[in-house]
Amino acid sequence: MIFRSAKAAPRAVEAGVGANTPGGGGAAGGVPRHVAIIMDGNGRWAKGKGLPRAAGHKQGAEAARKVLRAAGEAGVECLTLYAFSSENWRRSAEEVGDLMGLLRFYLRSEIEALHKEGVRLRIIGDYKAFAPDIVKLIEQGLQRTAGNRRMTLAIALNYGGQAELVRAAQRLASRAAAGEIGPGDIDEAAIAAELDTAGLPPLDLLIRTSGEYRLSNFLLWQVAYAELLFVDTLWPDFGADELRAALAAYGARERRFGGR
Ligand code: FPP
Repeated sequence: MIFRSAKAAPRAVEAGVGANTPGGGGAAGGVPRHVAIIMDGNGRWAKGKGLPRAAGHKQGAEAARKVLRAAGEAGVECLTLYAFSSENWRRSAEEVGDLMGLLRFYLRSEIEALHKEGVRLRIIGDYKAFAPDIVKLIEQGLQRTAGNRRMTLAIALNYGGQAELVRAAQRLASRAAAGEIGPGDIDEAAIAAELDTAGLPPLDLLIRTSGEYRLSNFLLWQVAYAELLFVDTLWPDFGADELRAALAAYGARERRFGGR
């Protein structure tokens, strides 16, 4: 059981190509439609308890489950989690192996629960670089949950914001070279439609845990008009209460999208 009760009925997920451009986000006092989280601090959490880093990641994955449930209950339409960046391959083989093990475990054990709760899985990032069995589990999960509309869980896997923009530019260049589009057709909506996040609601709120103040190559295009929230809590200690506090902080902000 992922959700207890939905306090606000989530709206249908948009398929519009301009969905990453500003204007559609939550107004002051509202619930953000799209929340993204840089889940940082697993290693420090483990170190503080004298545990191996893998224990921090395991607890971090549990935190992700709790936060997904709380986000669904609050009426958030889309939750995007930074689970593995394109730079994370630089960690030790042991740590990468632990993260892959967790990924396998959760893909095997959670897809059916997500499906039952009406959650659609999306992956952003170049997930095809993972081991073939993980790619297969991901694709089965995408297929199984594709028709769900209650909420979207987007997991960033082998994701980097610059690489995402490069892939989008390459696709547009191919279409231009084929004579399908001209330079003037490349506008904000055309770029947004080629990003991995195409069709997701505009990003309203980006949270980073563990007291670090960086974007770390996450959602560089999509963050344009998002509210940013940096909290000191280490990710494994971030749960439903912390998510609700973050949503309340968002609700108290005034968003102007460059206007007055
Ligand atoms: C940062 O903590 C977190 C990550 C590297 C990724 C987040 C991973 C999870 C929440 C576990 C679930 C992941 C998968 C792939 C199923 P850190 O190790 O950078 O912490 P530190 O800065 O304290 O060392």
